Amino acid sequence: MSLIDLTGQTALITGAAKRVGRSIASALADQGVNIVVHYNTSRGEAEALTAQLRDRGVDARTVQSPLDDRAQVEGMWEQALGCAPGGRISLLVNNASIFPSDTLSTLSPENLEQNLSVNALAPLYLIRLFAAQVRNANAPPACVVNLLDSRIGGYMKKHVSYALSKRMLFSLTRMLALELAPKVRVNAVAPGMVLAPEGESGETLERLAARAPLARWGAPEDVANAVAFLMRNDYLTGQVIYVDGGAFIKEDPYG
Ligand SMILES: NC(=O)c1ccc[n+]([C@@H]2O[C@H](COP(=O)([O-])OP(=O)(O)OC[C@H]3O[C@@H](n4cnc5c(N)ncnc54)[C@H](OP(=O)(O)O)[C@@H]3O)[C@@H](O)[C@H]2O)c1
Repeated sequence: MSLIDLTGQTALITGAAKRVGRSIASALADQGVNIVVHYNTSRGEAEALTAQLRDRGVDARTVQSPLDDRAQVEGMWEQALGCAPGGRISLLVNNASIFPSDTLSTLSPENLEQNLSVNALAPLYLIRLFAAQVRNANAPPACVVNLLDSRIGGYMKKHVSYALSKRMLFSLTRMLALELAPKVRVNAVAPGMVLAPEGESGETLERLAARAPLARWGAPEDVANAVAFLMRNDYLTGQVIYVDGGAFIKEDPYG
């Protein structure tokens, strides 16, 4: 079967104002998809992005919210549905994430809780709301893509809370793919070294990325194109695409 046409559908992308989320918004707009740009603190970037997307001929709106607890997630979902064309969202990208440093010995309950809340529970609550809307709308199959991390199979000893939260999201991707089929497909993209965390120089990551089989960094567009592919191939669910130059194949991805 050929890839499906997404023209006129609407996507909600969390954390979409800049960096990888922004590239995903752009790749989906290339497919004629209307975009609801969720942001937390990056208001200026979110508004600039929606203006650019509208210039390219799609509908684009912003919604603002932290995603640290369930009430915030529910409030954001209501805002998003309220501004989506026709009050309907058929594509969801769980991209927003935090990436703090901690180890098994420095890990605090607060840090662990915040990582799980933003990186795994917010996507879970959002997917449930999304799926309920799709069921009620008697609409064609809808699609979710979750952003993981290509290192989830290894031991990220300097980012323990983050690693646990992304592994939880990996498990949720498979569980929800089974639970919500056939009305909702749930897939994931696991990026490797794409952008250095904000405020960090790229040197260390550049050195690490050189150890991947393809021996270089990826670009946010590589990740975004994988998201668009999963949206367009409607025989895929429960799938993870590793966009990491082959690093995930190695026992120690960047060793
Ligand atoms: N960059 C990479 O090389 C890489 C590697 C592996 C995996 N990934 C994954 O790919 C995705 C995108 O990566 P990225 O580097 O572009 O992400 P990022 O810049 O670290 O975060 C994306 C957005 O998440 C939002 N966010 C953070 N905390 C939030 C909170 N408490 N509530 C609501 N929103 C919050 C922020 O929005 P505001 O700016 O509006 O506050 C931020 O811009 C993430 O899921 C990441 O884990 C990226």
